[in-house]
Amino acid sequence: MTDESETRNVRPATDVERSDPRAMHAANRAAWDQAAERYEGWFDEAVALIRAGGSNLFPVEHDLIGDLRAANGGAGTGRAIHLQCAAGRDTLSLWNLGAREVVGIDISPRMLELAARLTDATGAPATWIEADVLDTPHELDGTGELDGTGDLVYTGRGAIIWLQDLDAWAAVLRRLLSPMGRLVIFDGHPAEWLFDADEEGRWIATDYDYFGGAEASRGWAPEYIDHLSVAEDDQSWKFARAWTLGEIVTALLGAGLRLETVAEHPVDWWAGHRDIRPELRGRVPLSFSITATRGD
Ligand SMILES: C[S@@+](CC[C@H](N)C(=O)[O-])C[C@H]1O[C@@H](n2cnc3c(N)ncnc32)[C@H](O)[C@@H]1O
Repeated sequence: MTDESETRNVRPATDVERSDPRAMHAANRAAWDQAAERYEGWFDEAVALIRAGGSNLFPVEHDLIGDLRAANGGAGTGRAIHLQCAAGRDTLSLWNLGAREVVGIDISPRMLELAARLTDATGAPATWIEADVLDTPHELDGTGELDGTGDLVYTGRGAIIWLQDLDAWAAVLRRLLSPMGRLVIFDGHPAEWLFDADEEGRWIATDYDYFGGAEASRGWAPEYIDHLSVAEDDQSWKFARAWTLGEIVTALLGAGLRLETVAEHPVDWWAGHRDIRPELRGRVPLSFSITATRGD
């Protein structure tokens, strides 16, 4: 996510750009390939965590996901599918939590190269698929089985803001769920774009336009990706937007999913608001979660 106050390379997407969601996704692919450089630096840490049987997920996510070994009417979780899996650390956390097999889908080949290295280093039963999430293939694991599904479909932590067609996304989520499968989303709250810290660590309003739609940016927030070896002015433009909770929920309902829970959390999932005084944290929703089933 881009912190507007930290970069001068931010502008509203033009009407021409907005008219072509796939072109915006292609630009995001190039930008995330560049950002994968940062994930390369986190690789050894990821190997150590996964080898030790650990999980990178937050306690709130563990609560939402539940006991994967007991899920699915006691049969356990066969396949967990992670959309926008990046370099695979969260995906393999689902394996450590009890999924027998994991599938990760991401648009960035450089991220998936890292994910494959993580598989080699840990022996995890993982399949990595390079695709725009909107084009997630019907065959997931090379067996020829079409319309492959997961007992858990998981996504979030900075995923939805990069997508420019939520109705198409929601249809993919529903297609990927097994009949008894569960969808778990844990992602940044759109309201977090509206708040920042002043020099004394108090909440202040940003000038972000909550209803403004996609914005184009170059450069990355120092709390997350920060500086890359490619200079900011030479980086690819990327397109993100704070989809409102209403837009997200409406897209999921429109796809026919049955929502179980919708919740807001103060969890600062990317430490983007770490300059806020401790006693003032917890007042602003910084993340949200949704759980759902296929609805038939
Ligand atoms: C903030 S990262 C997600 C972080 C992730 N939770 C993790 O494990 O670190 C966003 C990811 O979304 C991917 N992405 C962005 N747009 C995408 C799209 N249209 N289809 C598939 N992946 C996409 C990027 O390549 C990137 O790896």
